[in-house]
Amino acid sequence: MKKILVVHGPNLDLLGKREPKIYGRTTLKEIDKNLKALARKNKISLTIVQSNHEGKIVDLIGGARGRFDAIVINPAAYTHTSVAIRDAIAASDVKTVEVHLSNIYAREEFRQTSLIAPVCVGQISGFGADSYLLGLQAAGLLKAKPRKKS
Ligand code: DQA
Repeated sequence: MKKILVVHGPNLDLLGKREPKIYGRTTLKEIDKNLKALARKNKISLTIVQSNHEGKIVDLIGGARGRFDAIVINPAAYTHTSVAIRDAIAASDVKTVEVHLSNIYAREEFRQTSLIAPVCVGQISGFGADSYLLGLQAAGLLKAKPRKKS
């Protein structure tokens, strides 16, 4: 069974209430429910974590090496600032898909640069809550690395 880690970055716990014109009215709880349903259908084992803290996200990615086949991450505001998260993904050796609810390239200039994208397999941006479902499907398509027995 493929194991995938989903990481939600800062302020995504506020989805549903937070700037609904940009991010929609779907709550994080609903997104996670839809992700779990899709994972069940595709026989994927899913671990989902939300954190507002850069260091916690770095730790999660570091701990994913050898334990997960892929990561789906919405780094949220850290997309545009975090060399630490970028380095963690590059070091982890775990294939990563970057997702965004909004189309970051159609927004303010500072959002149009992702420090994370170059170390990811690919990026899905602009499909609202469905970006996560597309991201999970993309991660599911990636070839899994054989895990070492521990
Ligand atoms: C976001 C886009 C980021 O620019 C922003 O800081 C977020 C959410 C998105 O999903 O559209 O918090 O990652």
